[in-house]
Amino acid sequence: MTLLVLQHVSKAYGGVPALRGVTLTVSPGEIHALMGENGAGKSTLIKILAGVVAPDSATIRMDGAPVVIDSPRVAHRLGLRFIHQELNVVPTLSVAENILLSQPVPRRLGLFVDWAKLNRLAGEALKTLGITHIDPRAPLAALSLGDQMLVKISSALVSEPGAPARLYVMDEPTAALTREESERLFRVLNEIRRAGNSVLYVSHRLDEVMTLCDRATVLRDGVAIDSGKLADITHNDLVSMMIGRKVQDAYPAPARPAESRELFAAIDLSGPGVGPITLAVKAGEVLGIAGLSGMGQTALLRMILGDTRAKGDMRLDGQPWRPRGPADAWQGGVAYVPAERRSEGLVLSRPIYENITLPHLSRQSRSGLLLLRGLERALSQKLGDGVRLKANTVNQRAVELSGGNQQKVVFAKALNGTPKLLLLNEPTRGVDVGAKFDIYQIIRTMTAKGLGVILVSSDLPELIGMADRIAIMRSGEVKDVVAAQGLGEEALLNLCYGRDAAKVA
Ligand SMILES: Nc1ncnc2c1ncn2[C@@H]1O[C@H](COP(=O)(O)OP(=O)(O)OP(=O)(O)O)[C@@H](O)[C@H]1O
Ligand SMILES: [Mg+2]
Repeated sequence: MTLLVLQHVSKAYGGVPALRGVTLTVSPGEIHALMGENGAGKSTLIKILAGVVAPDSATIRMDGAPVVIDSPRVAHRLGLRFIHQELNVVPTLSVAENILLSQPVPRRLGLFVDWAKLNRLAGEALKTLGITHIDPRAPLAALSLGDQMLVKISSALVSEPGAPARLYVMDEPTAALTREESERLFRVLNEIRRAGNSVLYVSHRLDEVMTLCDRATVLRDGVAIDSGKLADITHNDLVSMMIGRKVQDAYPAPARPAESRELFAAIDLSGPGVGPITLAVKAGEVLGIAGLSGMGQTALLRMILGDTRAKGDMRLDGQPWRPRGPADAWQGGVAYVPAERRSEGLVLSRPIYENITLPHLSRQSRSGLLLLRGLERALSQKLGDGVRLKANTVNQRAVELSGGNQQKVVFAKALNGTPKLLLLNEPTRGVDVGAKFDIYQIIRTMTAKGLGVILVSSDLPELIGMADRIAIMRSGEVKDVVAAQGLGEEALLNLCYGRDAAKVA
């Protein structure tokens, strides 16, 4: 019998449909992929199943019996477990508290919490994912984004005698994970399948979906357009189904080679825990930065922005480069797309157009405010269109956008103005295949004009496909710089690990 049947699921936000009569079925013992472009309605469907968002209409059956899911507690009792796209964790609480206390089921721990037991249970939960490097007593805020995600996943995996889990729903769990961490998660998912339980899985990483999942349902503009076995379709079929048109499954070629003129250079740059780093970016060049997570990539970008104090010298366009922080760097021609869009890149409660233009406008004249606002909107519209932003209007608040579209707003904001150097930190994380290609094309257009790009990415094919040269960071230093052309993924990964460096150079 089918485990879960969703039918006639519809939901509109302020009159604009997000889901229209969607049907989805999940069988026992399958990993079912839920696919679709940014804004297609995946997270909305999941939130309805979780009892977090009320649908306009929905018929839900579990094991053939109709159910009404009107709160997270009901969903939990039915054996549904969720890892939502947004990390809703409590940063001030410890890892253990986040794992064990954030469940919707009330716990009678008595007046005194048995901390030793709590920490031990949390440690065991982490071990199901093979994680031993995270201290259950540490405050969650002290952890990297990837580690926070692992904590979140562990918390969904905690088994409970009263309400056994049947279906795990994961909305882009690997977006912030390294390859190694993702592999661990996949092993756990395979265990879940073997035990006869099921997974509903959302990811924009198609290779991952093709190898991991049994069937897929594709949403486009809120409509379920197809579902079927993944063994029967190709990667390219899946892409066409998702975006309704064909894309080249590749990276756009540079319009012309990088100039020989040096645009930016860092000499013996060092800061807390990183460096010394020496590197240079030519005009029109994309310099990729590769490395395992936490090897100093973000710290390097922060030093270039003047966000952290650094020793050493930097030059931009032949002039000494010493910005006092991101705003100052922006004025000097260095724009930044941060990895953590929700906390660093956006003011979620403000409209899209303000998010794109305001940070920079504050330094320009604000007289004639109304006229300016009209210009702001028009400019935002143009920049948003350039990255295929899916929004009803630019007046919409950023919080109302789907995850991938929030990332596009951050990108549009970086392109506003005339940057000379663009610092990109995981720019396509959570972005759908079609939009990824658009972003790559924008990078090519910019470099053709002589702009330089520093691209930090954990997506190795992306680095190889987009960068001219790749600098490999290990332990806070640039250990190798290699030409991207002709470099294999395996070779690059080995460089990241510091293995066989001589053989691949
Ligand atoms: N709270 C909200 N208010 C208004 N509109 C919303 C709200 N939440 C979602 N939407 C809209 O519903 C549509 C579907 O969004 P959803 O988050 O489900 O997309 P998604 O498929 O998960 O995309 P992504 O891959 O980018 O995460 C989008 O157009 C989005 O802007
Ligand atoms: Mg989503």
